[in-house]
Amino acid sequence: MPALFLQSEIENPHSFYQKMIEKNPVYWDEENKIWAVYTYQYCTALLKNTNVHIPSLAPDDNLNQYALLIIENLARLSNGIHHEIAKETAFILFSNMKSIGIEIIIKELLDSKSSPNQINWVDLVCKKLPICTVLKSFNFNDKDSNFIIEKIAVLVKIMQPNKTNEDIKIINEISEKIYSITVRHIVTLPFYDDLISKISKSHKISIEETISICISNLIGLLIQSYDACRGLLSNSLLELLSKENSSKIKVDKTWIEKMVIETLRFNSPIQNTRRIAAEDIQLDEFLIKKNDSILVVLASANIDPKQFVNPLIFDTERNNNQEHLTFGIGGHMCLAKYFSINLATETLYYLFSNYNIVLLENKIDYEPMINARLPKAIWISLLNKTT
Ligand code: HEM
Repeated sequence: MPALFLQSEIENPHSFYQKMIEKNPVYWDEENKIWAVYTYQYCTALLKNTNVHIPSLAPDDNLNQYALLIIENLARLSNGIHHEIAKETAFILFSNMKSIGIEIIIKELLDSKSSPNQINWVDLVCKKLPICTVLKSFNFNDKDSNFIIEKIAVLVKIMQPNKTNEDIKIINEISEKIYSITVRHIVTLPFYDDLISKISKSHKISIEETISICISNLIGLLIQSYDACRGLLSNSLLELLSKENSSKIKVDKTWIEKMVIETLRFNSPIQNTRRIAAEDIQLDEFLIKKNDSILVVLASANIDPKQFVNPLIFDTERNNNQEHLTFGIGGHMCLAKYFSINLATETLYYLFSNYNIVLLENKIDYEPMINARLPKAIWISLLNKTT
């Protein structure tokens, strides 16, 4: 089997990963010309190695100036000093997010559906709640928020390496609109002047350039929150409703948080990430040559028996579940780890406190994506506990 496959084409990747950990921990996929790395030890070593870089997106002349600015400035896509500047900017923006009551947003989303007998959890909640939370945390008005929520699924395609002409056309339109909304909005944020002056002075870059780094990374936070949080909210609910776990459900925040963390390890919404070797890299007997592409299989590292005892058992009480690699590790590690765990915990706590939930369809189809394992739909029915 090639290292690259669509999550929609595999019912459960665990047995494949276990076979690779045992037989081919570092595997050259000749068809796709990429190394795939499966063990916890090697994935961690690569993500922490400063000679292992984020691959740049191939320059695309058809993208407009707004789409190009976003791509060039994002922390998630940059290396070296550009990464340091972008990461510091993203971090300051992120740390200035207002804390928002998730309860109000989830209630609004659930109440917007007249019949709770048949709800698609993915469309109604998972695709909207994380982005709504980030937008509200930055005080975006309702009109701009609704526009961004409606278009974000298309904007996230900006991160994909191979875009179709149709993708590029829509990305261009949306990038221009969202960029101009963010230009207008960012100046109203109370920490804006300090942010611009800090980044511009400490890195000796022009105000104009600093402004575009800030705008792009604010848009970057919206982009990054979409797929991964959608996956966490989906996969955590599926684990809670599974045959193995549903009888153990406790409507208790600490217990739900442990469920969420074990879901991140066992049913990772983000399965892998890509790198490129900036120098020759030796991993024991395996030599990854300079400029070779690498797939770091985070979800496989998460079930490495050398790191997690009985890894194929979903066990909320295992004492090192939080060592999973689903948020990455090293310089590019996700800055929203606690935010995301808290968002999923609060959402599921609200759901299980207020409703009895029935899963209506056991067969789950996944999106045709290589890097993320995202259920297309989860049909549930909600029975109000107070009626
Ligand atoms: C379940 C939810 C999430 C998961 C599983 C997740 C996962 C990840 C992973 C794996 C990376 C590192 C990628 C790499 O090393 O190649 C990353 C980076 C990042 N994430 Fe998240 N993420 C989540 C939610 C979020 C949210 C909600 C935000 C923003 C509000 C966010 C912002 C970022 C940013 C800005 C980076 C880039 C950091 C850098 O490159 O320096 N993430 N995330």
